[in-house]
Amino acid sequence: MSKPRIAPSLLAADFSRIGDEVQRVVNAGADLLHFDIMDGEFVPNFGISPLMIAAVRDKTDLPFDVHIMVKHPLKYIDPLVEAGADMITFHIESYDEPYAVISAIKAHNIKAGIAFSPNTPTDTVIPYLSDIDLVLPMSVEPGLGGQKFIQNTLVKIETLSEAKHYLRHKRKYQLDISVDGGVTIETAPAAVRLGVTILVAGTAIFKSQQPETVIENLRNA
Ligand code: DX5
Ligand code: ZN
Repeated sequence: MSKPRIAPSLLAADFSRIGDEVQRVVNAGADLLHFDIMDGEFVPNFGISPLMIAAVRDKTDLPFDVHIMVKHPLKYIDPLVEAGADMITFHIESYDEPYAVISAIKAHNIKAGIAFSPNTPTDTVIPYLSDIDLVLPMSVEPGLGGQKFIQNTLVKIETLSEAKHYLRHKRKYQLDISVDGGVTIETAPAAVRLGVTILVAGTAIFKSQQPETVIENLRNA
């Protein structure tokens, strides 16, 4: 089993010193950086803006993994690519046609992902797996950091891993399975055992005085 990559979620960073916060997790060994975009409609909250992503783009060469919790993903693609996104993950529950969003993302030669919320069945994303690079079962209700990991997500991860196994003969087929929400050193091991390849963690990493230890422990979970 290969080790998962670790994506600190900037939503838990101290926004008054965002450049330093990016540097802190880069130095601590992050593999990619996760940014949460929200529109105040798909979820009640607002998140990070493309402007903030652009502002920290030159701090690191690590891939920027952008998770968009918005009703209309299509209108976010161009501004996010411009800001420096290397992968964009939209929600299957959003209002735009999924293949249209996937094509719009891939037209920029970056990776496309689909996220789905805790109450959404795994079946809704299975038809798209062969056309995307990443699938993200949310392990908390989207919109807020610091929530508790929903255990039922593990069943979804297992189903996605099985589906990935069946698709493995497709030429060049690669699929990352990510998980986002309540990821800690306690909740990560089961997720990794069942096939998660990217662990997103906000609170666990940014609220720690030793983010390098947390990242190392998550990687070896
Ligand atoms: C929640 C966001 C997450 C969030 C995770 O909607 O998508 O990325 O920052 O935060 P923690 O790790 O604190 O649950
Ligand atoms: Zn996220």
